[in-house]
Amino acid sequence: MKIENGSYEGAKTIALTNKSGMTLTLCALGAGIMSIKVPDRDGISREVTRLADSGYAKEYHGLTIGRTSGRIENATFEIDGKIAKLEKNNHGVDNLHGGKDGFHGKVFSVAVNAAADCTDVVFGYDSPDGEGGYFGNVKLAVTYRVYENENKITMSFDATPDCKTLLNLTNHVYWNMSGDLREPVTDQTVYINASRVGRLNERLIVVDIDPVTPQFDFRKPRKMGEYITDESVQRHTHGYDHPFFLDGRGLDKTACSLYSQTSGIKLEVKTTYPCVVVFGDNFTGYKSTCFECQYHPDGIHQCPDDCGVCTPEKPYAETTEYVFTVK
Ligand code: GAL
Repeated sequence: MKIENGSYEGAKTIALTNKSGMTLTLCALGAGIMSIKVPDRDGISREVTRLADSGYAKEYHGLTIGRTSGRIENATFEIDGKIAKLEKNNHGVDNLHGGKDGFHGKVFSVAVNAAADCTDVVFGYDSPDGEGGYFGNVKLAVTYRVYENENKITMSFDATPDCKTLLNLTNHVYWNMSGDLREPVTDQTVYINASRVGRLNERLIVVDIDPVTPQFDFRKPRKMGEYITDESVQRHTHGYDHPFFLDGRGLDKTACSLYSQTSGIKLEVKTTYPCVVVFGDNFTGYKSTCFECQYHPDGIHQCPDDCGVCTPEKPYAETTEYVFTVK
């Protein structure tokens, strides 16, 4: 593995290039992904993520999101009599992505562990009790593992709280498989292993879970844009911005995939999480898409038995994997 150290606005960056021609560039600010380059079918190295136009860490692009991802209705929740009062940064009512004090803006510690067949970059952060309005001290590690002989990245979230609390951690990377943003993501082929999708209200709070209609059914791979102008896809969101509830979880199956005929590059996403929020970059003409693997965004209110609540005895441990191949 070739490892190059650098810095961005005072935070460490690390670029890892494997023997298969993939380069992953990470940054300690937001424990995030700045860039992923993979070879296309002609062997030309292509950027497959989209950074915010204003630059890294200016928006959520590529960053670790927490303590919670997505929208929590009324920006509050209770566990065992303890009440969290979160920032109301969604229409002045709900919480989105943990608020402005979220993990996306924190500078993490960095450790690199190299082995023969893979290299780990471990980002660490100790979140104090009360940060962002959440309770409990939380020791967090976000680990990226880059493999030497295949274009595979494993991203693990491990966190230990000192009391029972809620976490729902994801990465907010924006994908476009054409490479270097040569076509909108609506021209690319999507697969999602989900027969159920969240129903959203006008503030994009998940109010119920419905079986997928054809507009939301990606169980047979198809163009992301096929139904993009449909009223049911446009309503409240202007495109896809919905949690898809996976029909199976685990690193042995594909949760979702994205393929571009233009480059031949295919991304497969595997995850231990039950849900993937698909956000189709709806205000840029669908330049890219996010696949935010996570728990139900408002699970603490709607499915508290499977929402990311963790304890000192049962720490948080979830993994998402990105695999790139060419066809
Ligand atoms: C997504 C969210 C979108 C939008 C985006 C950030 O996770 O579902 O509604 O807020 O983040 O621009």
